[in-house]
Amino acid sequence: MAKSKYEYVKKFEKNDSLLPNTWLVIRVDGRGFHKFSDKHGFVKPNDQKALELMNKCAENVMNDIHDIVLAYGQSDEYSFVLKKECNLYDRRETKIVSTVVSLFSSNYVFNWNKYFPDKELLYPPSFDGRVVQYPGDNNLRDYLSWWQADCHINNLYNTCFWALVHSGKTETEAENVLRGTVSSEKNELLYSQFNINYNKLPEMYRKGSVLIRQE
Ligand code: GTP
Ligand code: MG
Repeated sequence: MAKSKYEYVKKFEKNDSLLPNTWLVIRVDGRGFHKFSDKHGFVKPNDQKALELMNKCAENVMNDIHDIVLAYGQSDEYSFVLKKECNLYDRRETKIVSTVVSLFSSNYVFNWNKYFPDKELLYPPSFDGRVVQYPGDNNLRDYLSWWQADCHINNLYNTCFWALVHSGKTETEAENVLRGTVSSEKNELLYSQFNINYNKLPEMYRKGSVLIRQE
C-alpha cells in the first residue's frame, strides 16, 4: 500500500511522544471496582486474595515490560515506574499506557481462578490508565509517598468503619461516629472497642505493596 493515494491518512495520527528524561509513572485503576468488589463478595475492607491477585498481575506486567523498575499497588490500583532514559515504543504515550493496561487486565482475568477457585468471574473487569511524568527524583519519591499516605488514611478509616458496621451499627451510624475524628482517635477506637492494634495489621493493608526489579 506504500505510496498509494490513501497514504495521507497516516498524517492524521497524533504525535504523542512523552518528554525525554522524565520518570514515567503509569497508573492503572480498576473501573467501577466498588461494584465489582461487592458483586464478587470481597472481604471488607481488605480482601487478601484480591490484593494478591493485583500483585500477581503487577508482577507479570513487570516480567513482560523490562523498562519498569518499580511498582506500587493498593486497593484497585497499581503504579508502574519506568526509568527516565526508557525508550519503550519511542516513548509514545498511548502505546505505552494501552499496553500496560491491557496486559494488567488480561492477567487479572487469566489468574482469577488461581486466587478465587470457588468464585465465578461474573463479568469482565476493566481498568483505566494514565501516565504522569516527573522530572526530579524528589517528585517521584513524593508521588509514592502521597499514594502510600492515601493508602494509610483510607485503610485506617475503612478498618474503623467496617469494625463498627460488623459490630451492629448501620453505615450511617458508623459514618457519624467517625466524622471529624483524627488518626489517634481512630487508633484508640479500634483498640478500646475492638481490641485491634492497628499497627499490628498486615503491612500490605496499611501501606500497600511494592515490587522492585532486582538488577
Ligand atoms: P472508578 O475507579 O472511578 O471507576 O471507581 P471505583 O468504583 O473503582 O472506586 P475507586 O477506584 O475510587 O475505589 C476502589 C474501590 O474498590 C473501593 O472503594 C472499594 O469499594 C473497592 N475495593 C478495593 N479493594 C478492595 C478490597 O480489598 N475489599 C473490598 N471489599 N473492596 C475493595
Ligand atoms: Mg477504581
